[in-house]
Amino acid sequence: MKEKLEQLSAEVERALATAEDEDRIVKVRTQFLGRKGKLALFIKQLGTLPEKERPIVGQLINQTKNSIEQQIDQKLKTISEKKKKEILQKETLDITLPGRRFSPGKKHPITQVASEIITIFTAMGFQIAEGPEVELDFYNFEALNIPRDHPARDMHDTFYITEEVLLRTHTSPVQIRTMEKLKPPVSIISPGKAYRRDSDVSHTPMFHQIEGFMVGEAISFSHLKGVLTVFAHQMFGENSAVRFRPSFFPFTEPSAEVDIKCVICKGEGCRVCSGSGWLEILGSGMVHPAVFKMVGYDPQKVSGFAFGMGIERIAMLKYGIDDIRLFFENDVRFLQQF
Ligand code: PHE
Repeated sequence: MKEKLEQLSAEVERALATAEDEDRIVKVRTQFLGRKGKLALFIKQLGTLPEKERPIVGQLINQTKNSIEQQIDQKLKTISEKKKKEILQKETLDITLPGRRFSPGKKHPITQVASEIITIFTAMGFQIAEGPEVELDFYNFEALNIPRDHPARDMHDTFYITEEVLLRTHTSPVQIRTMEKLKPPVSIISPGKAYRRDSDVSHTPMFHQIEGFMVGEAISFSHLKGVLTVFAHQMFGENSAVRFRPSFFPFTEPSAEVDIKCVICKGEGCRVCSGSGWLEILGSGMVHPAVFKMVGYDPQKVSGFAFGMGIERIAMLKYGIDDIRLFFENDVRFLQQF
């Protein structure tokens, strides 16, 4: 009997050795430990043994049963561990693969040039002010000494919304709005959008300007020249020559346009500077007394200068861009270069 039980144990061992999945092992369990299984036959035979032997054999059967159960549990454990390992292996990430490349956005060249200009002027003590793009005729023209019948209105190609309301054609109305609010001395720059009905290689219906002005006691034309020369040098290089050329704006007197030596031909004369060797970068002048009266400043007591420049124009000259429309097409091949 003992030998037969040992054989049974060995038989289980063999059966388990080839069992590769849980189903097979469950079958092995029923085959040996089930109610009609092989071990059950031994228990049945117990009754036929002499009474004296029964406890000993019974104990043997129990031991065998325990050892078979242990074997089966062990095997189940091995298989479930193996399974787990396989799953983990399948889920492994290959971290050596190069990641997906994505290009983060960056600032538009107009924004970049605007911040550069703003930095130059704030370093000289100018504060930043803003005004509305939908503007009253009064602030855009009237208060800037451009009455309704003034020929200078023709230069502006205005988008009118109603007779009194329009899209501002320049940032100069911010001069008026700021001086109405603040007492002199004031020195302000004002970046923003402006609108004109115009479209070609150097004009777009919407464009950007930076307005600037400095008003106080005894502000003179030499202050204008000094500030704008510093600006031109910082923007286009210390060696860039600057020229002040007489001009006309209804809201400044005297007025001057500021030119720099052509960045393309260095003054030789080329297509970009129309052979003149110079490029206009901004308009400027001494604030007209009529403007001071409009905002309630006393022209006998205060004086000041003002200037306005197109940001697109500055960017075109700085980077040698020959078509303003490139700034608004949003072609990433263009934008990526900045
Ligand atoms: N507003 C003028 C323009 O748009 C520029 C300018 C501003 C000229 C301030 C003089 C003083 O052309």
